[in-house]
Amino acid sequence: MSFTKVANLDEIKNNEKKTIFIDDKEILIINYDNNYYAINRRCTHLKGDLSKGKVENGIITCPNHGSKFDLTNGKSISGPKIAFLKFNTKDLTTYEVKIEDEEIYIKI
Ligand code: FES
Repeated sequence: MSFTKVANLDEIKNNEKKTIFIDDKEILIINYDNNYYAINRRCTHLKGDLSKGKVENGIITCPNHGSKFDLTNGKSISGPKIAFLKFNTKDLTTYEVKIEDEEIYIKI
């Protein structure tokens, strides 16, 4: 694994997201409170698009059925809720982020 440049710092402003594609991976880069995170863009439940998810308190919520994941480590905080049923879902893949010379790199 090595670091790959994914964006310039000014391309992803505070509280914005950017999707990048590397090989067969869809990776979401998130600037949350001026800290950068890189996570798999697809929810581990039914591949909901997390680029449309809301980020609050370091947690991203899937727009489809509400699964919540910790941005720092991808841990599943709570699984999907469908009707009145609640399920579990797997943790999300995350990638190490490095900032160097105003550029964002992720380890992949
Ligand atoms: S697809 Fe994300 S919670 Fe169902």
